[in-house]
Amino acid sequence: MNALHLPNAEFRSLAARVTDIAADLLAGLDDLRAFPAVRGEQVARAFGAPLPEEGLRARALDALGEVLALSRAPTPRFYGYVLGSGEPVAALADLLASILNQNVTAWRSAPAAVTIERQIVRGIAGALGCEGFSGSLCGGGSMANLMGLAMAREAQLPANESGAQPGVVYASSEVHMSIPKAMALLGLGRENLRLIGTDEGYRLDPQALRTAIAADRCAGRKPLAVVASSGTVNTGAIDPLPDIAAVCREQQLWLHVDGEYGALAALAIPEQFTGLSAADSLSLDPHKWLYQPLDCGMLLFRSAPAARTAFSFTGDYAKSLAPDPLEAFAFFDESLELSRRFRALKLWLSLRYHGLAAFRSAIRTDLRHAQNLAGLIRGTQTLELLAPVELSAVCFRYRQGEPGAAGDELNAAILKRVIERGRVYLSNATLRGRFALRACFVNHRTTDQDVSEIVPEVLQAARDVLSGCS
Ligand SMILES: Cc1ncc(COP(=O)(O)O)c(C=O)c1O
Repeated sequence: MNALHLPNAEFRSLAARVTDIAADLLAGLDDLRAFPAVRGEQVARAFGAPLPEEGLRARALDALGEVLALSRAPTPRFYGYVLGSGEPVAALADLLASILNQNVTAWRSAPAAVTIERQIVRGIAGALGCEGFSGSLCGGGSMANLMGLAMAREAQLPANESGAQPGVVYASSEVHMSIPKAMALLGLGRENLRLIGTDEGYRLDPQALRTAIAADRCAGRKPLAVVASSGTVNTGAIDPLPDIAAVCREQQLWLHVDGEYGALAALAIPEQFTGLSAADSLSLDPHKWLYQPLDCGMLLFRSAPAARTAFSFTGDYAKSLAPDPLEAFAFFDESLELSRRFRALKLWLSLRYHGLAAFRSAIRTDLRHAQNLAGLIRGTQTLELLAPVELSAVCFRYRQGEPGAAGDELNAAILKRVIERGRVYLSNATLRGRFALRACFVNHRTTDQDVSEIVPEVLQAARDVLSGCS
């Protein structure tokens, strides 16, 4: 008997225990803190035991309680960063995907998984108005942005054989940090990312874009791509896609749309995303605004041959021998990844279970929560909005005196106190140099009642800080 053998009855019993733990967690979410009251040292101590030489068998699961207790629970009152809430039907699919353990490299390794992923990708592209686009799932937005820019580079300034050539990429000053990171990794260099100014709504200014491109051409540099954000990470601003697409067409530049945070909201409010289909590549994050458990990013592209030009480099051991085009398909020809998990199963099962209409409705609810919070902030004397609320991110701050360092420090202290209090979780942003408190709604568990608690919590935290009670 193999030392790792697990009798089927034992698997059933372990699975039932894990399912019970998960169901208990879900049932009790409402009463949990939005962030656990723990310190680094305590968590390090909890998991500091050396790896056991002899297995603990079923007793190994006893420690799961501590893992949960020391984790940030997916409560309805978590509004930090851009973090989806983890839809449980999708989580069940993840368990099965791990048991099935498909390697979604190519049809010849994973026929159903490859077919479902291709179908899901096409289906979501179509639902966003990008009919005919194909693509793949990946670990997240940073990976999708890297792949989108790798395609842009290979289409405009081929680098795969002889190395990177200098080229310039344009994006707004609000662009996500994964874009400069991709510039560095692709050998283009962060200095060759031009950060274009934005209007009062934090949207890229197309006229400033034209001017910057002209200046680079004059100086003998080679523009290659524009990255438009469809929902910036700080404020959810949607860059003017039709205008930017017109510049790209006229200047023959690749248009990559970073839709990681916002573009899936086109399922609910397509009118705000006109021009999405003009993208050459478009990155999305179902683990954000389709509420999927991590990880689940997606890159869509208009031209599969362009993806193959960027990514196809196949060893003989991996080459498909099938004449049938469906059976010959390989994701590794169109993606950076080779070994890949069956991410599509969760998305497929969750969409089948709830239906697209339920997701559209959940996104609309998040949008409404953001407007409600903005209204509640406007109704106070002491809080002020720092940016228009275009999607579901609300940036605001406690108003005291003139803008400047003192206000920034006070608001940073208020944020720390809000998190310590544990009832709601906010994160922060820097807008035109000012520290902002930020709530972002991509959480299908949040109710109107939860939203109504945010302002009182912030005001109480401010009182605690100002009275020295924190
Ligand atoms: C606009 C934008 N782009 C890219 C990313 C990176 O996505 P990921 O965290 O999945 O790598 C984020 C994450 O918040 C984002 O908001």
